[in-house]
Amino acid sequence: MTTIAVLPGDGIGPEVVEAALPILDAVGVGWAVEFGEIGWGCWRREGEPIPSATWDLIERADATLMGAITSKPPREAEAELPADLQGTGRRYASPVIALRRRLGLYANIRPITDLYGADFDFVVIRENTEGLYAGYDYRGLDDDLWNLVGDHPGAVESGRDDTAVALRLQTRSGLDRIFRCAFDRAAAGGFTRVTLADKPNVLRASGELARERFDAIAAEHPEVEAHTANVDAVAMQMVRSPESFGVIVAENMFGDILSDLGAGVMGGLGLASSANVGGRGSLFEPVHGSAPDIAGRGVANPFATILTVGQMLAELGAPDESARVRAAVREAVQHGAVVTPDLGGTASTADAAAEVVRRLG
Ligand code: NAD
Ligand code: IPM
Ligand code: MN
Repeated sequence: MTTIAVLPGDGIGPEVVEAALPILDAVGVGWAVEFGEIGWGCWRREGEPIPSATWDLIERADATLMGAITSKPPREAEAELPADLQGTGRRYASPVIALRRRLGLYANIRPITDLYGADFDFVVIRENTEGLYAGYDYRGLDDDLWNLVGDHPGAVESGRDDTAVALRLQTRSGLDRIFRCAFDRAAAGGFTRVTLADKPNVLRASGELARERFDAIAAEHPEVEAHTANVDAVAMQMVRSPESFGVIVAENMFGDILSDLGAGVMGGLGLASSANVGGRGSLFEPVHGSAPDIAGRGVANPFATILTVGQMLAELGAPDESARVRAAVREAVQHGAVVTPDLGGTASTADAAAEVVRRLG
Protein backbone atom coordinates (compact mmCIF):
# COMPACT_ATOMS: atom_id res chain seq x y z
CA MET A 1 0.00 0.00 0.00
CA THR A 2 1.25 3.50 -0.84
CA THR A 3 2.16 5.46 2.28
CA ILE A 4 2.53 9.23 2.39
CA ALA A 5 4.62 10.94 5.06
CA VAL A 6 2.68 14.06 6.03
CA LEU A 7 4.59 16.94 7.64
CA PRO A 8 2.17 19.77 8.51
CA GLY A 9 4.89 22.12 9.81
CA ASP A 10 4.35 25.69 11.02
CA GLY A 11 1.82 28.51 10.71
CA ILE A 12 -0.87 27.78 8.13
CA GLY A 13 0.86 24.49 7.23
CA PRO A 14 -1.27 22.33 9.56
CA GLU A 15 -4.45 24.18 8.51
CA VAL A 16 -4.03 23.67 4.77
CA VAL A 17 -2.79 20.08 5.16
CA GLU A 18 -5.77 19.11 7.29
CA ALA A 19 -8.09 20.65 4.72
CA ALA A 20 -6.39 18.99 1.74
CA LEU A 21 -5.94 15.42 2.98
CA PRO A 22 -9.61 14.39 2.47
CA ILE A 23 -8.92 14.80 -1.28
CA LEU A 24 -7.10 11.45 -1.22
CA ASP A 25 -10.24 9.67 -0.08
CA ALA A 26 -12.46 11.76 -2.34
CA VAL A 27 -10.63 10.50 -5.45
CA GLY A 28 -10.62 6.98 -4.05
CA VAL A 29 -6.93 6.10 -3.95
CA GLY A 30 -7.06 5.01 -0.33
CA TRP A 31 -3.42 5.78 0.42
CA ALA A 32 -2.20 5.58 4.01
CA VAL A 33 -0.86 8.69 5.70
CA GLU A 34 1.56 8.91 8.60
CA PHE A 35 2.33 12.20 10.37
CA GLY A 36 5.71 13.61 11.31
CA GLU A 37 7.12 16.77 12.86
CA ILE A 38 9.17 19.39 11.07
CA GLY A 39 10.04 23.07 11.24
CA TRP A 40 10.41 26.00 13.52
CA GLY A 41 8.02 24.88 16.24
CA CYS A 42 9.78 21.54 16.34
CA TRP A 43 13.16 23.28 16.64
CA ARG A 44 11.95 25.43 19.52
CA ARG A 45 10.72 22.37 21.38
CA GLU A 46 13.48 19.90 20.58
CA GLY A 47 16.42 21.77 19.06
CA GLU A 48 15.93 19.80 15.84
CA PRO A 49 14.14 21.14 12.76
CA ILE A 50 13.86 17.60 11.38
CA PRO A 51 13.99 14.99 14.17
CA SER A 52 15.37 11.55 13.35
CA ALA A 53 11.91 10.00 13.65
CA THR A 54 10.83 12.28 10.80
CA TRP A 55 13.79 11.25 8.65
CA ASP A 56 12.90 7.61 9.30
CA LEU A 57 9.31 8.26 8.30
CA ILE A 58 10.37 10.02 5.09
CA GLU A 59 12.72 7.16 4.18
CA ARG A 60 10.01 4.59 4.85
CA ALA A 61 7.21 6.37 2.99
CA ASP A 62 6.64 6.40 -0.77
CA ALA A 63 6.43 10.20 -0.85
CA THR A 64 6.25 13.19 1.46
CA LEU A 65 3.64 15.94 1.64
CA MET A 66 4.71 19.05 3.55
CA GLY A 67 2.55 21.99 4.59
CA ALA A 68 4.87 24.92 5.26
CA ILE A 69 7.66 25.84 7.60
CA THR A 70 8.99 29.06 9.04
CA SER A 71 12.60 29.81 8.10
CA LYS A 72 14.50 32.18 10.36
CA PRO A 73 17.84 33.89 10.15
CA PRO A 74 20.39 32.02 12.34
CA ARG A 75 20.74 34.65 15.05
CA GLU A 76 17.00 34.86 15.77
CA ALA A 77 16.82 31.09 15.75
CA GLU A 78 19.56 30.56 18.34
CA ALA A 79 17.90 33.05 20.70
CA GLU A 80 14.64 31.11 20.64
CA LEU A 81 16.09 27.73 21.58
CA PRO A 82 15.17 26.25 24.98
CA ALA A 83 17.72 27.43 27.58
CA ASP A 84 19.32 24.00 28.00
CA LEU A 85 20.07 23.83 24.29
CA GLN A 86 21.51 27.32 23.88
CA GLY A 87 25.24 27.53 23.26
CA THR A 88 25.34 23.89 22.10
CA GLY A 89 26.21 25.04 18.60
CA ARG A 90 22.92 23.86 17.13
CA ARG A 91 21.88 25.71 14.01
CA TYR A 92 18.45 26.18 12.56
CA ALA A 93 18.94 25.79 8.83
CA SER A 94 15.89 25.77 6.59
CA PRO A 95 14.44 22.26 6.78
CA VAL A 96 13.05 22.63 3.25
CA ILE A 97 16.53 23.07 1.83
CA ALA A 98 17.84 20.25 4.04
CA LEU A 99 15.13 17.91 2.73
CA ARG A 100 15.76 18.76 -0.91
CA ARG A 101 19.50 18.40 -0.47
CA ARG A 102 19.61 15.20 1.57
CA LEU A 103 17.06 13.42 -0.62
CA GLY A 104 18.79 14.63 -3.81
CA LEU A 105 15.56 16.20 -5.14
CA TYR A 106 17.19 18.24 -7.85
CA ALA A 107 14.11 19.33 -9.79
CA ASN A 108 11.32 21.51 -8.45
CA ILE A 109 8.28 21.35 -10.73
CA ARG A 110 5.98 24.36 -10.33
CA PRO A 111 3.01 24.47 -12.71
CA ILE A 112 1.53 27.84 -13.62
CA THR A 113 -1.85 26.96 -15.00
CA ASP A 114 -4.69 29.34 -15.51
CA LEU A 115 -7.69 28.56 -13.34
CA TYR A 116 -9.90 31.48 -14.38
CA GLY A 117 -10.45 30.88 -18.10
CA ALA A 118 -7.57 32.79 -19.67
CA ASP A 119 -5.35 30.60 -21.74
CA PHE A 120 -1.98 29.88 -20.22
CA ASP A 121 -0.48 26.64 -19.06
CA PHE A 122 3.22 26.47 -18.40
CA VAL A 123 5.60 25.12 -15.82
CA VAL A 124 8.62 26.53 -14.07
CA ILE A 125 11.25 23.85 -13.50
CA ARG A 126 13.59 25.14 -10.88
CA GLU A 127 16.99 23.61 -10.20
CA ASN A 128 16.93 22.67 -6.54
CA THR A 129 20.46 21.88 -5.34
CA GLU A 130 22.94 24.34 -6.86
CA GLY A 131 23.19 28.05 -7.64
CA LEU A 132 23.10 30.44 -4.71
CA TYR A 133 21.49 27.73 -2.57
CA ALA A 134 24.55 25.48 -2.62
CA GLY A 135 25.71 26.97 0.68
CA TYR A 136 28.81 28.91 -0.39
CA ASP A 137 27.86 32.07 1.40
CA TYR A 138 30.58 33.81 3.41
CA ARG A 139 30.94 36.88 5.55
CA GLY A 140 34.38 37.84 6.86
CA LEU A 141 36.62 36.60 4.10
CA ASP A 142 39.59 34.27 4.36
CA ASP A 143 42.70 34.72 2.21
CA ASP A 144 41.37 32.73 -0.73
CA LEU A 145 38.16 34.71 -0.99
CA TRP A 146 39.88 37.98 -0.27
CA ASN A 147 42.34 37.33 -3.09
CA LEU A 148 39.35 36.81 -5.32
CA VAL A 149 37.38 39.97 -4.52
CA GLY A 150 39.69 42.23 -2.47
CA ASP A 151 40.37 44.60 -5.35
CA HIS A 152 36.71 45.53 -5.73
CA PRO A 153 36.33 49.18 -4.66
CA GLY A 154 33.56 48.35 -2.18
CA ALA A 155 35.69 45.60 -0.63
CA VAL A 156 38.73 47.91 -0.40
CA GLU A 157 36.63 50.48 1.42
CA SER A 158 34.83 48.01 3.71
CA GLY A 159 37.60 45.56 4.63
CA ARG A 160 37.37 41.78 4.80
CA ASP A 161 35.20 41.56 7.90
CA ASP A 162 32.48 43.62 6.32
CA THR A 163 32.59 42.06 2.89
CA ALA A 164 30.42 39.06 2.05
CA VAL A 165 30.46 36.70 -0.89
CA ALA A 166 27.79 34.27 -2.09
CA LEU A 167 28.78 31.96 -4.90
CA ARG A 168 26.48 30.72 -7.64
CA LEU A 169 27.52 27.11 -8.18
CA GLN A 170 26.82 25.55 -11.57
CA THR A 171 28.12 22.14 -12.58
CA ARG A 172 27.90 20.23 -15.82
CA SER A 173 26.27 17.24 -14.16
CA GLY A 174 23.80 19.45 -12.29
CA LEU A 175 22.95 21.39 -15.43
CA ASP A 176 22.61 18.29 -17.59
CA ARG A 177 20.16 16.59 -15.27
CA ILE A 178 17.93 19.63 -14.81
CA PHE A 179 17.87 20.37 -18.55
CA ARG A 180 17.17 16.71 -19.32
CA CYS A 181 14.31 16.86 -16.85
CA ALA A 182 12.98 20.01 -18.56
CA PHE A 183 13.07 18.54 -22.06
CA ASP A 184 11.78 15.12 -21.01
CA ARG A 185 8.87 16.69 -19.18
CA ALA A 186 8.15 19.06 -22.05
CA ALA A 187 7.99 16.13 -24.45
CA ALA A 188 5.88 14.01 -22.08
CA GLY A 189 3.56 16.89 -21.18
CA GLY A 190 2.89 18.05 -24.73
CA PHE A 191 4.76 21.35 -24.38
CA THR A 192 6.31 22.59 -27.61
CA ARG A 193 9.00 24.82 -26.14
CA VAL A 194 11.56 25.03 -23.37
CA THR A 195 12.97 28.40 -22.33
CA LEU A 196 16.17 28.70 -20.33
CA ALA A 197 15.81 31.81 -18.16
CA ASP A 198 19.28 32.95 -17.11
CA LYS A 199 21.54 35.99 -17.19
CA PRO A 200 24.36 35.09 -19.60
CA ASN A 201 24.91 38.72 -20.60
CA VAL A 202 26.25 39.38 -17.09
CA LEU A 203 27.19 36.00 -15.61
CA ARG A 204 29.48 35.26 -18.49
CA ALA A 205 31.27 32.08 -17.40
CA SER A 206 28.52 30.29 -15.49
CA GLY A 207 25.98 31.54 -17.99
CA GLU A 208 28.03 30.22 -20.87
CA LEU A 209 28.40 26.81 -19.26
CA ALA A 210 24.64 26.70 -18.73
CA ARG A 211 24.00 27.76 -22.30
CA GLU A 212 26.39 25.12 -23.67
CA ARG A 213 24.78 22.30 -21.71
CA PHE A 214 21.29 23.57 -22.54
CA ASP A 215 22.09 23.42 -26.25
CA ALA A 216 23.64 19.95 -25.90
CA ILE A 217 20.61 18.52 -24.10
CA ALA A 218 18.22 20.33 -26.46
CA ALA A 219 19.79 18.40 -29.32
CA GLU A 220 18.46 15.20 -27.70
CA HIS A 221 14.93 16.55 -28.22
CA PRO A 222 14.70 18.04 -31.72
CA GLU A 223 10.90 17.94 -31.51
CA VAL A 224 10.92 20.57 -28.72
CA GLU A 225 11.86 24.21 -29.49
CA ALA A 226 14.71 25.44 -27.30
CA HIS A 227 15.07 29.14 -26.39
CA THR A 228 17.38 31.02 -24.11
CA ALA A 229 16.33 34.35 -22.69
CA ASN A 230 17.39 36.79 -20.02
CA VAL A 231 15.56 36.15 -16.79
CA ASP A 232 14.48 39.76 -16.39
CA ALA A 233 12.87 39.72 -19.84
CA VAL A 234 11.18 36.41 -19.00
CA ALA A 235 9.71 38.02 -15.88
CA MET A 236 8.25 40.84 -17.94
CA GLN A 237 6.89 38.52 -20.61
CA MET A 238 5.39 36.20 -18.01
CA VAL A 239 3.15 39.07 -16.96
CA ARG A 240 2.43 40.38 -20.47
CA SER A 241 1.95 37.10 -22.36
CA PRO A 242 1.98 34.08 -20.09
CA GLU A 243 0.46 31.98 -22.88
CA SER A 244 3.73 32.17 -24.82
CA PHE A 245 5.58 29.80 -22.47
CA GLY A 246 5.82 26.02 -22.22
CA VAL A 247 8.54 24.87 -19.85
CA ILE A 248 10.72 27.53 -18.24
CA VAL A 249 13.88 26.10 -16.72
CA ALA A 250 15.99 28.21 -14.37
CA GLU A 251 18.71 27.94 -11.76
CA ASN A 252 17.67 27.82 -8.13
CA MET A 253 17.25 31.49 -7.16
CA PHE A 254 15.93 32.67 -10.51
CA GLY A 255 13.46 29.77 -10.41
CA ASP A 256 12.43 30.68 -6.88
CA ILE A 257 11.62 34.23 -7.93
CA LEU A 258 9.99 33.30 -11.25
CA SER A 259 7.75 30.75 -9.58
CA ASP A 260 6.38 33.29 -7.10
CA LEU A 261 5.86 35.64 -10.04
CA GLY A 262 4.01 32.83 -11.80
CA ALA A 263 1.90 32.36 -8.67
CA GLY A 264 0.99 36.04 -8.89
CA VAL A 265 0.02 35.62 -12.54
CA MET A 266 -2.28 32.73 -11.56
CA GLY A 267 -3.99 34.70 -8.82
CA GLY A 268 -1.75 34.35 -5.80
CA LEU A 269 0.31 32.02 -3.64
CA GLY A 270 -2.90 30.35 -2.55
CA LEU A 271 -2.96 28.59 -5.94
CA ALA A 272 0.67 27.58 -6.45
CA SER A 273 1.73 23.94 -6.03
CA SER A 274 5.05 22.15 -6.37
CA ALA A 275 6.76 18.77 -6.61
CA ASN A 276 10.40 18.16 -5.69
CA VAL A 277 11.57 15.16 -7.65
CA GLY A 278 14.57 13.37 -9.11
CA GLY A 279 16.10 11.79 -6.03
CA ARG A 280 15.11 9.29 -3.40
CA GLY A 281 11.34 9.56 -3.03
CA SER A 282 9.67 12.88 -3.72
CA LEU A 283 8.51 15.87 -1.72
CA PHE A 284 5.31 17.75 -2.43
CA GLU A 285 4.62 21.20 -0.97
CA PRO A 286 2.63 24.30 -1.75
CA VAL A 287 4.92 27.12 -2.93
CA HIS A 288 3.79 29.43 -0.14
CA GLY A 289 5.27 29.64 3.33
CA SER A 290 3.83 29.56 6.83
CA ALA A 291 2.05 32.94 6.38
CA PRO A 292 2.33 34.14 10.00
CA ASP A 293 0.12 37.14 9.14
CA ILE A 294 -2.96 34.93 8.70
CA ALA A 295 -2.05 31.77 10.65
CA GLY A 296 -4.52 30.46 13.22
CA ARG A 297 -7.55 32.23 11.76
CA GLY A 298 -8.82 29.48 9.49
CA VAL A 299 -8.74 31.69 6.39
CA ALA A 300 -5.70 30.31 4.50
CA ASN A 301 -6.42 29.17 0.98
CA PRO A 302 -6.20 25.36 0.88
CA PHE A 303 -6.17 25.19 -2.95
CA ALA A 304 -2.36 25.36 -3.30
CA THR A 305 -2.08 22.30 -1.07
CA ILE A 306 -5.00 20.57 -2.81
CA LEU A 307 -3.31 21.17 -6.18
CA THR A 308 -0.10 19.87 -4.61
CA VAL A 309 -1.95 16.68 -3.69
CA GLY A 310 -3.07 16.66 -7.34
CA GLN A 311 0.56 16.86 -8.47
CA MET A 312 1.44 14.06 -6.08
CA LEU A 313 -1.29 11.88 -7.59
CA ALA A 314 0.14 12.42 -11.07
CA GLU A 315 3.72 11.75 -10.00
CA LEU A 316 2.75 8.57 -8.12
CA GLY A 317 0.91 7.05 -11.05
CA ALA A 318 -2.67 8.29 -10.69
CA PRO A 319 -2.97 10.81 -13.59
CA ASP A 320 -6.76 10.53 -13.97
CA GLU A 321 -7.32 11.29 -10.30
CA SER A 322 -4.87 14.18 -10.61
CA ALA A 323 -6.79 15.65 -13.55
CA ARG A 324 -10.05 15.37 -11.59
CA VAL A 325 -8.55 17.30 -8.67
CA ARG A 326 -7.35 20.08 -10.97
CA ALA A 327 -10.73 20.27 -12.68
CA ALA A 328 -12.54 20.41 -9.35
CA VAL A 329 -10.33 23.27 -8.13
CA ARG A 330 -10.84 25.11 -11.41
CA GLU A 331 -14.62 24.78 -11.07
CA ALA A 332 -14.50 25.89 -7.46
CA VAL A 333 -12.43 28.95 -8.36
CA GLN A 334 -14.52 29.92 -11.37
CA HIS A 335 -18.04 29.18 -10.22
CA GLY A 336 -17.87 28.78 -6.51
CA ALA A 337 -18.81 31.55 -4.19
CA VAL A 338 -16.88 29.41 -1.73
CA VAL A 339 -13.35 30.79 -1.91
CA THR A 340 -11.06 32.25 0.73
CA PRO A 341 -10.38 36.01 1.21
CA ASP A 342 -7.15 35.99 -0.87
CA LEU A 343 -9.33 35.14 -3.89
CA GLY A 344 -11.96 37.71 -2.98
CA GLY A 345 -14.31 35.42 -1.08
CA THR A 346 -15.31 35.02 2.54
CA ALA A 347 -15.05 31.25 2.95
CA SER A 348 -12.99 29.52 5.60
CA THR A 349 -10.16 27.12 4.78
CA ALA A 350 -12.38 24.17 5.69
CA ASP A 351 -15.38 25.35 3.64
CA ALA A 352 -13.28 26.08 0.53
CA ALA A 353 -11.74 22.61 0.72
CA ALA A 354 -15.13 21.00 1.31
CA GLU A 355 -16.38 22.68 -1.88
CA VAL A 356 -13.65 20.91 -3.87
CA VAL A 357 -14.41 17.59 -2.18
CA ARG A 358 -18.10 18.06 -3.00
CA ARG A 359 -17.27 18.68 -6.66
CA LEU A 360 -15.14 15.53 -6.71
CA GLY A 361 -17.99 13.48 -5.31
P1 NAD B 1 4.39 33.39 2.71
O1 NAD B 1 4.21 32.57 1.49
O2 NAD B 1 4.26 32.68 4.00
O3 NAD B 1 3.34 34.60 2.69
C1 NAD B 1 3.37 35.65 1.73
C2 NAD B 1 2.01 36.33 1.65
O4 NAD B 1 1.09 35.46 0.98
C3 NAD B 1 1.40 36.61 3.02
O5 NAD B 1 0.68 37.82 2.97
C4 NAD B 1 0.45 35.46 3.23
O6 NAD B 1 -0.65 35.75 4.06
C5 NAD B 1 0.00 35.14 1.81
N1 NAD B 1 -0.31 33.70 1.66
C6 NAD B 1 0.60 32.71 1.55
N2 NAD B 1 -0.02 31.52 1.46
C7 NAD B 1 -1.35 31.78 1.51
C8 NAD B 1 -2.51 30.97 1.45
N3 NAD B 1 -2.45 29.63 1.34
N4 NAD B 1 -3.72 31.56 1.54
C9 NAD B 1 -3.81 32.90 1.63
N5 NAD B 1 -2.76 33.73 1.68
C10 NAD B 1 -1.53 33.17 1.62
O7 NAD B 1 5.83 34.08 2.59
P2 NAD B 1 6.62 34.97 3.66
O8 NAD B 1 5.67 35.80 4.43
O9 NAD B 1 7.69 35.59 2.90
O10 NAD B 1 7.28 33.91 4.62
C11 NAD B 1 6.74 33.49 5.87
C12 NAD B 1 7.61 32.37 6.43
O11 NAD B 1 7.49 31.20 5.60
C13 NAD B 1 9.10 32.73 6.41
O12 NAD B 1 9.67 32.21 7.58
C14 NAD B 1 9.62 32.04 5.18
O13 NAD B 1 10.98 31.74 5.26
C15 NAD B 1 8.79 30.79 5.14
N6 NAD B 1 8.62 30.17 3.82
C16 NAD B 1 8.52 28.81 3.80
C17 NAD B 1 8.24 28.16 2.61
C18 NAD B 1 8.06 26.68 2.63
O14 NAD B 1 7.69 26.12 3.64
N7 NAD B 1 8.26 25.99 1.55
C19 NAD B 1 8.06 28.89 1.43
C20 NAD B 1 8.15 30.29 1.48
C21 NAD B 1 8.41 30.92 2.69
C1 IPM C 1 10.29 28.05 -1.68
C2 IPM C 1 10.74 28.85 -0.46
C3 IPM C 1 12.07 28.31 0.05
C4 IPM C 1 13.10 28.53 -1.04
C5 IPM C 1 12.54 28.94 1.36
C6 IPM C 1 11.52 28.79 2.46
C7 IPM C 1 13.85 28.35 1.82
O1 IPM C 1 10.78 30.19 -0.76
O2 IPM C 1 10.06 26.83 -1.54
O3 IPM C 1 10.16 28.62 -2.76
O4 IPM C 1 13.68 29.61 -1.16
O5 IPM C 1 13.32 27.59 -1.80
MN1 MN D 1 10.09 30.68 -2.80
